[in-house]
Amino acid sequence: MHLWVRNLKSEPISSILEKIKTVGQQALEQIQTACTLEGLDQVRIFFLGKKGVFSLILRELENFSSIDRPQLGQSANLWKRKIQQALLEKKEELQEFLFQQAIENEKVDITLPSKFQHQGKEHLITQTIHRIIEIFFSLGFDVASGPEVETEYLNFEALNISQDHPAREMQDSFFLTKNVVLRTQTSCAQIRAMQQQSWPIRIVCAGAVYRRDDEDPTHSSLFHQLEGLWVDQNIQMSDLKGVLEFWAKRMFGNQVRIRFRPSYFPFVEPGAEVDISCFCQLYANQSKGECRICKGSQWIEVLGAGMVHPELFKRVGYLKENHDQNIRGFAFGMGIERLAMLLYQIPDIRYFFQGDLRFLSQF
Ligand code: PHE
Repeated sequence: MHLWVRNLKSEPISSILEKIKTVGQQALEQIQTACTLEGLDQVRIFFLGKKGVFSLILRELENFSSIDRPQLGQSANLWKRKIQQALLEKKEELQEFLFQQAIENEKVDITLPSKFQHQGKEHLITQTIHRIIEIFFSLGFDVASGPEVETEYLNFEALNISQDHPAREMQDSFFLTKNVVLRTQTSCAQIRAMQQQSWPIRIVCAGAVYRRDDEDPTHSSLFHQLEGLWVDQNIQMSDLKGVLEFWAKRMFGNQVRIRFRPSYFPFVEPGAEVDISCFCQLYANQSKGECRICKGSQWIEVLGAGMVHPELFKRVGYLKENHDQNIRGFAFGMGIERLAMLLYQIPDIRYFFQGDLRFLSQF
């Protein structure tokens, strides 16, 4: 190419113009076929660089007469501009192409399954509490909470539990000081709710309770309860039955039945223990005598309940002297671990508290 430039002077002007055109076209062709930015830059240097073809041509033109020079110069400059323009366009095109290619290569397929990662979830006890709360929530119950460290007054006295009741002994409950105890039941939530607000009241309250128990498959010194309380004018035992039946069917399925057995709790009158029909009753192929859960009785005890004792209403100031406005209420309390054990056939209460992922991750 450089030799070609050096010989220009001996040629007729039309042939030189032709040659400039040929060189220009070659440049345009090479620009079009360049497929990298580096390759394109080499083309630029070869044709338009300081020692490139067009620089040599223009320098060579100095040797021509002033008559031929403008025409040749014009042609060379025209081609030079065409090449510059083509270089610019090609550069943009290549940059766009490379950009698209980079996007393509870095593309993330969001439909691919993710790498397995351990995901935390609620403890089975919390799941069970939420499941129960949701049922009562659908009946218009609010959710209340209370402290696990409770005064002796709220845990026992206000609940009508007499001074000589065995639960009030040091060996049955965890006393922190003479008058402060780790709550032994969530029933203190009843008193707290009634102290805080006037009737009507419709609350559930769940949480941990503590009792001095030798631990075994069905006993633990820490466990959880859920308390319910509904106080309003003219509340009756049948309301309690209706609410608990609704809960039991939602919890265990529509076929489940409930039954009330008379029982005694100092803070309710009358009081009852409530059973649900055992699951063995649902499966025809299981003979009644064999069931490990109900031991053939066909019933499973799941909670304590009753009509709020008038003594409690007196203590929270609901009953003004000689002025009974027919304020009545019912309360119930259920053990969460027991329910979870029934629902998931868990044989030992201690599994809940060992933090063993082999157990916990199953739920
Ligand atoms: N607190 C009682 C218990 O721990 C259960 C209960 C609650 C009974 C409310 C009656 C009414 O066994």
